[in-house]
Amino acid sequence: MGFPLERPRRLRRTPALRRLARESRLSAGQLIHPAFIREGLQSPQPIASMPGQSHESIDSLCATVEETVGLGLGGVLLFGLPAVKDAQGSGAFAEDGVVQQAIRALRERFGDSCVVIADCCLCEYTDHGHCGFLLENGDVDNDATLELYARTAVSQAAAGADIIAPSGMMDGQVAAIREALDLSGFTDTAILAYSAKFATVLYGPFRDAAECAPRTGDRRSYQMDPANQREAVREAILDVEEGADMVMVKPALTYLDVVARLRDATDLPLAAYCVSGEFAMLHHAAAAGAFDERAAVLETLGGIRRAGADMIITYHARAAASWLAEIKE
Ligand code: PBG
Ligand code: ZN
Repeated sequence: MGFPLERPRRLRRTPALRRLARESRLSAGQLIHPAFIREGLQSPQPIASMPGQSHESIDSLCATVEETVGLGLGGVLLFGLPAVKDAQGSGAFAEDGVVQQAIRALRERFGDSCVVIADCCLCEYTDHGHCGFLLENGDVDNDATLELYARTAVSQAAAGADIIAPSGMMDGQVAAIREALDLSGFTDTAILAYSAKFATVLYGPFRDAAECAPRTGDRRSYQMDPANQREAVREAILDVEEGADMVMVKPALTYLDVVARLRDATDLPLAAYCVSGEFAMLHHAAAAGAFDERAAVLETLGGIRRAGADMIITYHARAAASWLAEIKE
């Protein structure tokens, strides 16, 4: 036997060679921090289901965003918890709603130095916890919901959001929002479509945090069946045709095949949402001594990048950005 001709180890010999030959990279500017703003709060309150995350007041949100800007993060994604919920979820599109107030405060304080993304859905605002308008038989009325999404998006754009991110998985939501934004003069407000959002157990900690678990039934008539990959491609193509500026896969880790498929299916920027249950898995496994949290989080986020995501929404965004700043290699 002669010597092997190909020796991939040549390029693994030193940290400098490994850095040069690296195929994908992770940087702070690709990470988005999700924040929960609770109406009427005077100071931040820790969220029990998500260690290290808090319900923010408007003031504490400003402090957090100052930190994210300092860390060079890509942006923040805002979720609101209204003081009062009702059948329509009217807090979602109230001119002085909690998210609208938060967006205005961020714009005033940070100008264009922070990208502000507004989650556009009703489930945090409805008393029944569903993402859309509920008929008496318990079904979600797709087309009645579109009107409410359009109002929500316009109110968020009017407050100054850079990007509207519809997450309710109603058919036609991107087209309805694009049309409403354009008719109201917000032609420069972008849409990040939650194209492939799966009905997963991994949203558990978020539903505690956002107090938005459905009171009856589940979300499987609008969120995607976890078994489906081709349907995810169809959903993304529809969103692109309807005017999405960016598309998203959610969750990330158990759906990396979908991330890879969408990377091939569209040239638009692609986001992946590493959701609350994924945050919890990493955090609790590290706390139990399974591995080092920093190493596990950076490898995980790196894997999502390798699969093809341009940007990652993650509750580890701040931690990851400060770890990345420490690392020389
Ligand atoms: C609701 C919404 C959910 C998340 C973001 N927006 C949860 C759900 O569908 O129940 C989940 C985010 C996370 O788990 O981190 N439209
Ligand atoms: Zn929702």
